[in-house]
Amino acid sequence: MKKITLIYFSPTKTTETVLRAITQGLARSLEISGSEITAVNFTRPESRSTVLAPFDHNDIVLLGAPVYAGRVPADAANFFKNLTASNTPAILTVVYGNREYDDALLELKDIASVCGFIPVSGAAFIGEHSFASTDIPIAMNRPDENDLKQAEDFGNNTGKLLKKTKDLKKIAALKVPGTFPYKEGMGKGAPDFIEVTDACTNCGTCATVCPSKAIDPENGFATIAADCILCCACIKACPEQARLMKDGPIKDKARWLNETCSTPKPAQVFFAAEP
Ligand SMILES: Cc1cc2nc3c(=O)[nH]c(=O)nc-3n(C[C@H](O)[C@H](O)[C@H](O)COP(=O)(O)O)c2cc1C
Repeated sequence: MKKITLIYFSPTKTTETVLRAITQGLARSLEISGSEITAVNFTRPESRSTVLAPFDHNDIVLLGAPVYAGRVPADAANFFKNLTASNTPAILTVVYGNREYDDALLELKDIASVCGFIPVSGAAFIGEHSFASTDIPIAMNRPDENDLKQAEDFGNNTGKLLKKTKDLKKIAALKVPGTFPYKEGMGKGAPDFIEVTDACTNCGTCATVCPSKAIDPENGFATIAADCILCCACIKACPEQARLMKDGPIKDKARWLNETCSTPKPAQVFFAAEP
């Protein structure tokens, strides 16, 4: 196995950060050099028209997505479903904001299996909640140093498992938490929950980072509620902090999460049993 490919959806970059740390541990364990590592970030809508070449036994693929309402976000699930693989080991990661990951890791495993991957390990890591802000700091600054060390260890241990496994087809199926039928997940659209303040300089960063083309440059960079997936990438990326969460149901939810899910959760990792 010579090539590592990371494939991820990550509007506020916590999933990306975790996947890169896992990759470091994996590459070290398998002595794979940086030139054999490719990252496919399909967060931007235009990147989702790319069709990736099929993966084979020379590949190791990391699939990563945040958890939205206990599920893999629809844009991510739809992209993953178009991948094809044959006898390719997959490392599955979901990143969630310290509430629960519910059925997301199971869903990712099921998608990967249908594509032809062999899921060898899976993990759920904590990332700063998309709805977090300095005054509502849900899982603020996660993944932290300790999370990233665990992510590297997870990659390293997956590498060790792959080295020991002579025939991937004989590996016992990976078991992860979750139930099928999955939770209902997100509906379409969002409430009108973002205010653009006078601090906006029309730089357009918000529109550049939006994964769902939900920002209208012709209308003061206002959010198009029907297209918004609530990811808050625009709020977090604004160099002027000109985008704020309005009072309303999303801010109330953020406050609730901050009160209810304040005890920091550790990462959870799972490995397929050796043959
Ligand atoms: C619409 C939406 C739904 C979310 N649902 C959950 C959830 O069910 N459980 C949870 O713990 N975190 C949830 N989160 C938080 C994200 O999973 C978390 O912030 C993650 O780190 C974001 O990943 P990213 O930085 O790669 O975008 C949700 C975030 C959004 C925007």
